[in-house]
Amino acid sequence: MVNKALFVCLGNICRSPIAEAVFSQIIEERGIADRWKVDSAALGGWHSGNPPDSRAQNTLMEHNIVYNGRARQIEDEDFSEFDYIFGMDENNISNLKGQQPPGTKAKILLLGDFDPKGERIIRDPYYDNNSKGFEKCYQQCVRACNGFLDQYGN
Ligand code: 4NP
Repeated sequence: MVNKALFVCLGNICRSPIAEAVFSQIIEERGIADRWKVDSAALGGWHSGNPPDSRAQNTLMEHNIVYNGRARQIEDEDFSEFDYIFGMDENNISNLKGQQPPGTKAKILLLGDFDPKGERIIRDPYYDNNSKGFEKCYQQCVRACNGFLDQYGN
């Protein structure tokens, strides 16, 4: 069976592409990539079609992760297609819950709830004037994605 996970933030150029890329690398390392479909999306459409913020790309490159995704906005069909939709902060979660069409299967989860260190909100580094927050975001995603996979038995 294929499980499907979608990572969502406001713009899909900073946090959610990092989370998607990290999750994809971890399932490769665990040898379970064939059991997952992974994607990311934005709540807003401002950056649709764009690659991640250059600071996010640099952070992923520093960790030897290749990411080729482009930003896209979440659609109603995503709530039927994906089993798990992860938000990065409480605002994402309330927007996702507000948009979820009734009767669709997706479980809406706060990614940081799976961080064993208990940092529940994934750092939003978009407005920073340096790249430190991107590394912080990356490290949070590593812990939380591993925590989720540990908990869900994968
Ligand atoms: P992200 O970061 O949601 O992590 O991709 C942001 C990207 C764009 C904006 C805000 C946050 N924005 O306001 O355009």
